[in-house]
Amino acid sequence: MNRILIGAQWGDEGKGKVIDILAAKSDVVVRYQGGPNAGHTIKVHGRKFVLHLIPSGVLYPKKVCVIGNGVVIDPEALFEEIDMLERGGVKVRGRLFISDQAHLIFPYHLLMDRLREASLKRGKAIGTTKRGIGPCYADKMARVGIRVCDLKSMSYLRQRLSDVVRERNAVLTKVYKHKPISFKKTFAYCKKIRSRLLKLAIDTPKYLYEASRAGKDILFEGAQGTLLDVDHGTYPFVTSSNATVGGAITGTGIAPTFIDRILGVVKAYTTRVGEGPFPSQFPAGLMEIVQKKGDEFGSTTGRPRRCGWFDAVIAGHAVRINGLDAMAIMKLDVLSGLKELKIATAYRVNGKVTRDYPHAINEFSAAKPIYETMKGWDEDITGCKKWSDLPVNARKYLKRLEQLTGTPIKIVSVGSQRHQTIFL
Ligand code: GDP
Ligand code: IMO
Ligand code: MG
Repeated sequence: MNRILIGAQWGDEGKGKVIDILAAKSDVVVRYQGGPNAGHTIKVHGRKFVLHLIPSGVLYPKKVCVIGNGVVIDPEALFEEIDMLERGGVKVRGRLFISDQAHLIFPYHLLMDRLREASLKRGKAIGTTKRGIGPCYADKMARVGIRVCDLKSMSYLRQRLSDVVRERNAVLTKVYKHKPISFKKTFAYCKKIRSRLLKLAIDTPKYLYEASRAGKDILFEGAQGTLLDVDHGTYPFVTSSNATVGGAITGTGIAPTFIDRILGVVKAYTTRVGEGPFPSQFPAGLMEIVQKKGDEFGSTTGRPRRCGWFDAVIAGHAVRINGLDAMAIMKLDVLSGLKELKIATAYRVNGKVTRDYPHAINEFSAAKPIYETMKGWDEDITGCKKWSDLPVNARKYLKRLEQLTGTPIKIVSVGSQRHQTIFL
C-alpha cells in the first residue's frame, strides 16, 4: 500500500510522529518537498529526535529513506543530520538515497533569504525559517538552480556556477548594497560537499517505480501544511513548494495511479509559526496556556507558535484539495482542562458569511470566525489506549470534527510518545 501523508493546517501538526508510527508497516519512506525548513519531532523510549531533511522512518533500522527531486537540499544540513543520527546509534549508511535531480541550497540562498526578509517592512515579511528555501525554489523556477547531478562534471559546474554568481552579485550589490560573493569560495564549497553527496544520489523515480512494482509499501512524508502551500495556501504568507498532494507526485516522479491512500494530519486545535493571518487565533491569556501545555515552540527555529481554535473552514479546504481519505487528530491531550472548546465553522468576511476559504489575502485577513461551542473535559487522557477510554466530551468533539470535515478519523494522538496513540 502506498500512502501520502499531508499536513492539513499550517505545519507542525505532528507529521513526524505519525510517519514514525506508519513507517513500521512500510518499506520505504520518501520526503517530496520543502527542505530543512521542516522540523519533524519523534519521541521514542524517552529519546527525542528532530529531523529536518531525512525522512521520519529512519529510526526503524531496516527502512529505506529517500529524499525526492522536489526537496531542496542543504548539503551541510544533511551531513549534520546524518552525523547526529549516527552518533545517536541510528545507522543511516546504505539506506538513505537522494534524488540526483534535487536542487541544492547554497550559502548564497541563505544570505538572500536573510536579506530579503530584512528588507521587507513589518507586516510584509514572511517570517521565514531563513533556511534559504524561497531563494532556492525561485532559482529552480528561473532555471538557474544547481542540482545534485550538476556536481558530477566539474567543468560543467564551473561554467554554470560562474553565470549564477555573476547574476547573484549584480542583485546583491545593486539591490541589497551587500558585498559580492566569491566564485572561488563557492566553487571550493562544491568541491568540499561533492563526493559525499554524489555517493547518496540515485535515480529516485526509477527506484520508487521498481520498489512499488515489486510490492513494497511506500510512505510519502509531507512537510509544512496545506495552508503553507504556494498555490493553495495563504499566499504570500506561504512556503515556496507544494505541500499539498500534487507535490508528492511531482516531487518524487511517482505516478498518481500508484497512490492508494491519502492521510491528513490535523492538530486538535490550530497553530501557526511565522507571519500571516490566522482567523481563529486565541486571545492573549489562553494563547500562553495552550502554548505552554502543547510545548508550541518551533522545532526548527524555536520561535513560539501562535495557537488558536480548530478551524473547520481551513480543514475543509485541506480535505478537498488533498482528497483526504482519513485524518489523524493530534495533541488532543493538550485540550484537557479547558471548560469549553470552540470550533470555527464559517467566517464573516466584509459582512458576508462563508464556509469557503477566501483566496485573497486581504479577505482572509478580514475573516472573523463564526464559532460553535462544545463542552470540554477535565480528565488527563495521556494514558488512554482505546476510543472507549476517552471522556465522553472528547469523543463528542472528535465526532463533530468528523462531521464538519466529512472525513473519518483513523488515529487519535494523546501524547508525543509512540505508544500514546489510539487507532480507530
Ligand atoms: P511536524 O512538523 O508536523 O512533524 O510536527 P512538529 O514535530 O514540528 O511539532 C509537533 C510537536 O508535538 C512535537 O513536539 C511532538 O513531539 C508533539 N506531539 C505530537 N503528537 C502529540 C500529542 O498527541 N500530544 C502532545 N502533547 N504532543 C504531541
Ligand atoms: P513542518 O514540516 C511550520 C513557515 C515559516 C514561514 C513560512 C515560509 O515542520 O511542519 P520558509 O522558510 O519555508 O520560506 O518560510 O512557512 N514554515 C513552517 N511552519 N512548520 C513547518 O514545517 C514550516 N516550514 C516553513 O514559519 O511562515
Ligand atoms: Mg514541524
